[in-house]
Amino acid sequence: MKLHPVPPDALSPEIFRLFQKRTPLLTAGDQERCNTMTIGWGQLGTLWNKPICTVYVRPERFTYQFMEANPAYTLSVIPKEHQDALTLCGTKSGRDMDKIKECGLTLAYTASGTPYFAEAELVLVCRKLYAQNLEIAGVIDRKTISPFYGAHGNWHRTYTGEVVEILQAEETKD
Ligand SMILES: Cc1cc2nc3c(=O)[nH]c(=O)nc-3n(C[C@H](O)[C@H](O)[C@H](O)COP(=O)(O)O)c2cc1C
Repeated sequence: MKLHPVPPDALSPEIFRLFQKRTPLLTAGDQERCNTMTIGWGQLGTLWNKPICTVYVRPERFTYQFMEANPAYTLSVIPKEHQDALTLCGTKSGRDMDKIKECGLTLAYTASGTPYFAEAELVLVCRKLYAQNLEIAGVIDRKTISPFYGAHGNWHRTYTGEVVEILQAEETKD
């Protein structure tokens, strides 16, 4: 994809489709070592007067250690023709295989060395500002939230990052 920079206030993604439907690749690491996984949960908005993107990562994900160890992360929204890559990155762990090689996508790097995918039609580059674990003490509606925990895995850790760069393809496909 030919990507070009756009300012945050020029971006008009359909926010409720971006995560749940498009399931971006969340990538963290550096030019030596990185990992990626498909995500379905997240938010875009404004916090501390900055454009922000929050993502939710279970500690058992291999990607988690890259999120912890690096100052930035990217979200790559991948065209539908690469659905197989999204399925692979959302069902296999980088702990067990070279997922990035197997998925057939091409790594690219921001000027500061944060990885993303060249095939993306939209890339959000986020600088970590804040991280916090979700916890049971904060739950108001147990019926909605409890099914995602207990036997299903550990509570997610949230990462809120300032969106420092947005790269968008000249013609976005959906
Ligand atoms: C559509 C879809 C959405 C997902 N969303 C999330 C998410 O928001 N947070 C999360 O921790 N895992 C999510 N997952 C699960 C991870 O992508 C999956 O466990 C992946 O294999 C982790 O890879 P890793 O161990 O290499 O990090 C999602 C999976 C799919 C298929």
